[in-house]
Amino acid sequence: MNGAKDTSPVLEWRVTKSPRWIVLLSLLLIGFTSCQMFRSGRNQGDLEYWEERARRHGGRAVYDLGHSEAELDSVTRYQMDVLFPVLRRHLKGDEKLVLDFGSGTGRFTPALAELIDGRALGVDPIQRFLDLAPRTERVEYRLLENGRIPLPDQSADVVWISLVLTAIPEDSTLRRSVAEIERVLRPGGLLFLVENTHDRPNLPHLAYRPVEFYASLFPSVPLQHEGGYYDRGERISILVGRKRAGATPSAAF
Ligand SMILES: C[S@@+](CC[C@H](N)C(=O)[O-])C[C@H]1O[C@@H](n2cnc3c(N)ncnc32)[C@H](O)[C@@H]1O
Repeated sequence: MNGAKDTSPVLEWRVTKSPRWIVLLSLLLIGFTSCQMFRSGRNQGDLEYWEERARRHGGRAVYDLGHSEAELDSVTRYQMDVLFPVLRRHLKGDEKLVLDFGSGTGRFTPALAELIDGRALGVDPIQRFLDLAPRTERVEYRLLENGRIPLPDQSADVVWISLVLTAIPEDSTLRRSVAEIERVLRPGGLLFLVENTHDRPNLPHLAYRPVEFYASLFPSVPLQHEGGYYDRGERISILVGRKRAGATPSAAF
């Protein structure tokens, strides 16, 4: 009898109190999960970060902020001196459209159109950058919305990407961007990638990935490392490759 009396409060505690713990635990779990979801939503290409950076720094935001205002033009000139000869070597001469993915303020877009003697489309998710981009009759700029590139399948002869994938730390956003770029690049088209491959820990808004990672990132575009340059002591690598013919179902028929 006594035993039964002794156990009843324990039973009562278990039955009546444990739901409170369960509720508390569930709330904690929900809180943690929402926090993670919020973080990954915010990280969708870190667009809030880039909005804010563009608002605070204007055109300077697309550079390493360690550069002084006075250095910016010479930084761009130096990059063009290094990058354009490599791109020129890979062109076949029949290219008509170059996509500047993540074109920012269009530092390279008009010159890319001139280089292929065709047209260029610059796309970027930050309107403030696009508003600063230089207009010529060979170039057009479009806002990248929900990661969708406003081009038909297999319509770009060249895709130029300069320091953009490093600005996409979140893996699912990166994979979606890769799929979109592969969608618009025509079979046999050229992918020209320039990324920061320095060996250092990631920042919340920047991922430092090795050359080997980028070399095999695009399933239908095997990329070769073609040298690079240093920017404020950080290694910037150039990778180039052509999309395999027949890599997409429509090309296979
Ligand atoms: C370092 S800046 C480089 C801009 C330009 N390519 C250049 O070299 O001047 C990085 C660019 O990536 C863009 N960006 C950030 N997240 C992106 C995303 N998910 N998709 C495409 N571009 C993105 C930013 O708006 C910014 O213009």
